[in-house]
Amino acid sequence: MSDFLNAYSIQTWLESCPQGYLEHTAFGHDPDAKEPNLVLENPTLREDSISGTVQLVVGERAALAASSGLINCAPDYASKRFLATQTLDEARHVEIFTQRLYDLGVKKDELEDVISQHANPNLVKFAEVLLEKVDKGDFLAGVVGQNIVLEGMAFSVFEMMHASNVDANPKFAQTLSGTIADERRHVGFGENRIGSLLVEQPERKSEIEQMQKEMTYHMLATFADRFRADNGAIEESRRIIQKAGGDQKSQVWHGTDLANADSEQMESVLANTVLGEFKTRLARIGLEYQAPAQP
Ligand SMILES: [Fe+2]
Ligand SMILES: [Fe+2]
Repeated sequence: MSDFLNAYSIQTWLESCPQGYLEHTAFGHDPDAKEPNLVLENPTLREDSISGTVQLVVGERAALAASSGLINCAPDYASKRFLATQTLDEARHVEIFTQRLYDLGVKKDELEDVISQHANPNLVKFAEVLLEKVDKGDFLAGVVGQNIVLEGMAFSVFEMMHASNVDANPKFAQTLSGTIADERRHVGFGENRIGSLLVEQPERKSEIEQMQKEMTYHMLATFADRFRADNGAIEESRRIIQKAGGDQKSQVWHGTDLANADSEQMESVLANTVLGEFKTRLARIGLEYQAPAQP
């Protein structure tokens, strides 16, 4: 337990995060960095960036509600303190992605309308399954849903977006890299804390696996909406960037070149990566991954 106490203490958090990789940043990036002109000036690219960023805000708002809600039902003070740092991380994520919407030209008084207009209904359902457990004060299910499922998904989505943006949009890529570092800490806590609790309460396993299955279904449906239904927008954005002579350097992520993959390949590399992570992490805490129906 003492390693656990150290790794997840507020002191460690202060040194590695605010006094570490976030030092000298503003809203998660170099204070002078700006969105690329092409994104700001082209209506299709701007709209696509707004829509993608709204999904991040929706996911992070759910993470904020979940991590703060879990503090009071955590069974020990080490977990409560860690969740307090996580709550601040998630509030920061909400803030920096909301700030990106403002940077993309969303007006402050339009924010909630823009979010409800673009929020993917499947992502909203994904969050509802988790928050229902949190609202009941179910620490075990809440931590699996938040720190393994939601954050396992967020981690891979952010990494994929980071690979796509590292040359094209360094400002956004830097914002994502600080977020990825935070998510890595959150996922680590989930694995470390829940494994031992599940050993004490094996009777909870099947119900928690059922939640994972439901959340996974809504997650895959969200990916399907993004890569199948919005396929036109993805192709159109790529054509505009090519026409403008934008960066077409290949960006290989988990074996797929994101700069040239079609949307079906993009959906499959993301889904396969996230599901692979779920299987590994769930196995580490003693749960068996449950495959949902294919959306
Ligand atoms: Fe987050
Ligand atoms: Fe997180």
